[in-house]
Amino acid sequence: MSSTSTPTSTSPAESALTTTPVPEEVGRLYDRLTALDTEAVGGSLHLGYWDVDDNDTLLVEAADRLTDEMTDRLRIVEGQRVLDIGCGVGQPAMRIARRTGAHVTGVAISKDQIARATALAESAGLSDRVAFRHADAMELPFPDNSFDAAVAIESIFHMPDRGRVLSEIRRVLRPGGRLVLTDFFERGPIPAEKQPAVDRLLRDFIMTLARPEDYVPMLRDAGLRFVELLDITEQSVRQTFEQMSRGSQEMQTVFDDEAEEKFSPASMVDVDEFGSVLLTAQKPL
Ligand SMILES: C[S@@+](CC[C@H](N)C(=O)[O-])C[C@H]1O[C@@H](n2cnc3c(N)ncnc32)[C@H](O)[C@@H]1O
Repeated sequence: MSSTSTPTSTSPAESALTTTPVPEEVGRLYDRLTALDTEAVGGSLHLGYWDVDDNDTLLVEAADRLTDEMTDRLRIVEGQRVLDIGCGVGQPAMRIARRTGAHVTGVAISKDQIARATALAESAGLSDRVAFRHADAMELPFPDNSFDAAVAIESIFHMPDRGRVLSEIRRVLRPGGRLVLTDFFERGPIPAEKQPAVDRLLRDFIMTLARPEDYVPMLRDAGLRFVELLDITEQSVRQTFEQMSRGSQEMQTVFDDEAEEKFSPASMVDVDEFGSVLLTAQKPL
């Protein structure tokens, strides 16, 4: 290939991959999203999880299944305290509380999400077991060692510094407590023709992609012990974008951007280089 031919991928400096998210802007984005009807995903704002043979399962059910896959890895029992970092409108927190009997505290950067989550928990009769608080995960408003486990479902990619969030989580976890999170990562070099779709997604949802080799050093630097890393792309990404692309276009109205072209789920269906990872770690004893 000559030096003047089309590059196979956009250099980081030209792409949205490296743009640092600003928490206040992320909060405003989710305030606008909260005003929409999120019933299509049952209040969960994350990918679904499909086993090999069940492609017909709807996103709403598959999204709960991802929550369950993560909950099982927390190894918590009734009465223990769980922190949900980036809790959305509280569907995962309520599900964790119901399935395990744990007390779950959710934090999110969007005030409207916290108000909605609090109201939903009240009407579900779960106010004694779940609580929600507006906070930036970069500075968690909790004392050291105050949680038995922590979960972060598709939230750390919105944060300016993944390492700092992990350090904060380690601080508030008790020794031996587990952290289970999902994150998006660059599974392989993104071909030039797919880069615009990825850039639109990252720009409109204000997020960055990690690299697979980042995770183990990131955990180590934060003082967490690596337990497990699963690439769950095959079980989650394509089916989610496929089902989202059959849904309404209403979501596009929330993006605070004047660009002509906005994120569209259909444009992400074939981007196999866009990966999802399920990561488990533990605070050393
Ligand atoms: C994709 S949503 C996932 C919501 C929820 N975990 C779920 O699965 O339904 C991302 C969440 O991260 C939260 N978030 C983003 N940046 C944050 C920050 N700096 N501090 C706390 N929460 C944050 C957003 O408010 C939102 O609730």
